[in-house]
Order: sequence, then structure tokens, then C-alpha cells
Amino acid sequence: MAKTVLITGGAKRIGRELALSMASAAYNIALHYSSSAEEAEKTAEEIRGRGVECQTFQCDLREERELLELVPRVAGRMPELEVLINSASIFRKGAIAETGPEFFDSHLAINLKAPFFLSRDFAKLCRRGQIINLLDTRVARNDYGYAAYTLAKKALLELTRLSAREFAPGIRVNAVAPGLILPPEGGSKEAFEKMAGKIPLRKTGGPLDVLRAVEYLLKADFLTGQVIYVDGGEHLE
Ligand SMILES: NC(=O)c1ccc[n+]([C@@H]2O[C@H](COP(=O)([O-])OP(=O)(O)OC[C@H]3O[C@@H](n4cnc5c(N)ncnc54)[C@H](OP(=O)(O)O)[C@@H]3O)[C@@H](O)[C@H]2O)c1
Repeated sequence: MAKTVLITGGAKRIGRELALSMASAAYNIALHYSSSAEEAEKTAEEIRGRGVECQTFQCDLREERELLELVPRVAGRMPELEVLINSASIFRKGAIAETGPEFFDSHLAINLKAPFFLSRDFAKLCRRGQIINLLDTRVARNDYGYAAYTLAKKALLELTRLSAREFAPGIRVNAVAPGLILPPEGGSKEAFEKMAGKIPLRKTGGPLDVLRAVEYLLKADFLTGQVIYVDGGEHLE
């Protein structure tokens, strides 16, 4: 029977590309989304066109009750769940001085608390499988312009290591830390391209670069607790 992967934030952008590539690799897809219902349905149709099963799951990851129900809902409808990819995220600019409690809480809730409890519930229900967390090259340094986001992703790096140790040997946990892959939604493509001039490989990447790293991690069965930086060397700066 085909394995199932749960991808959070899978309706569009990197999550969508991950879902489509996993479908091409014959995984059934549990596609999580929050507000992008239309895009989720479109992505699901495209996935089904690749000959695998796809079911969509709406859930606002800031809502604790919804968060704690997500993995049991998925496992109830798709019992062959074997992979969890934590890709949903929010990314807003804010130095410490500009950060209020609500802004802080939503960054921590979506970027850290959600992967924490989804991983816990996945490990409890699945016992064997893999988790992949989407970090950010910023975990290698301090981006003070994005304080709450950077802190949440740094803690997600530590969660990757902590859970890799706790969930071994049945579940491997690894991470991908992207750099300049896609400009933020509504952000200027020009400014994004300009940033490439400041990183060692002097170019931006694309979703395909992230997919290649995820593909590798899924197959690399002697690896756990690892991070692959897909960032043109930006973490070296
Ligand atoms: N783009 C890049 O170049 C880049 C660089 C570094 C790291 N990353 C990391 O790679 C991952 C994917 O990046 P991306 O740019 O594709 O992500 P994104 O567009 O910023 O967000 C992905 C999805 O997260 C979901 N999300 C936001 N708030 C949510 C909430 N309250 N509850 C549930 N889901 C929520 C949204 O789903 P809905 O649309 O359905 O609401 C959104 O489509 C993220 O973890 C990001 O931090 C990306």
C-alpha cells in the first residue's frame, strides 16, 4: 500500500511544490491548509491527476484544539501515514523593539508550537516514519530584523535534534534550511534578486533545490538530526 505524507501549508508556494513532487514519487498526500481553500483544492486536483490519493485538511495551527486534532484526523482517514513535513510558517519583519506579544505568540505558535505537537502526535500514532522540518538559513546567525521568526526557527532546529534523539530508532527527524528560494508573498522580485549579490554563490535558488534536499533526506536511512542548508552558502556569511 502507498505511504502517506502529511504536508502542512501545502496549498501553495514551497509546500505545494513538495506535495506535487511527493505525489510524483507515489506517496498519497494529506494536504493541510489554513486560509487557502481554493488553492488547496486546485493543488489536490493536480495531485490526483498524478494517480495518487489526496485529501485536504483545513486547520488554523494557532488554534490549540484544531492543532491537537490534526494528526488524529489525518491518521483516521489515511492510516498509512509515514511522513510529516512541517512547512507552514509565518514570516513577518520585526526587531525586538517592534514586537508585541500577539505578534510574538503567532510566530512561536505556527513556527514552533505546531511542529512540536504535530511531531509528538505523529510519533505517538505512527511509531515508524520520518519527519522533515523546514527551517531557514537564519538559524545559523542572528537576523535582528526578524526577531520572533528567527528565534522560532532556531528553536525548531533544536526540536529537530531533540526529537531525532527521542524518536529513534523508529522515526528519523531531519531538516532543510532554505535561503533565497521565493520572495515573500507580495514582496518585490527585484529586491529579492538583488540580495543574491550578497551571498557566496551569487544567485537565488528555487523550490526544486528544496525538493532535491527533501528527496535525499527521505532516502538517507542512516541520517537523523541533520540539517541541510539549501541557501547558496548564505549560512557561511
Ligand atoms: N520562501 C523562501 O524563500 C523561504 C526561505 C527560508 C525558509 N523558508 C521556509 O520554508 C517553508 C515554506 O516556505 P514558503 O515561503 O512556501 O511559506 P509561506 O508561503 O510563508 O507559508 C506557507 C503556508 O503556511 C500556512 N500558514 C500560515 N499561517 C498559518 C496558520 N495560522 N495555520 C496554518 N497554516 C498557516 C499558509 O497556509 P494558507 O495559505 O492555507 O493559509 C501558507 O500557505 C516555511 O517554513 C519557511 O519558513 C522559505
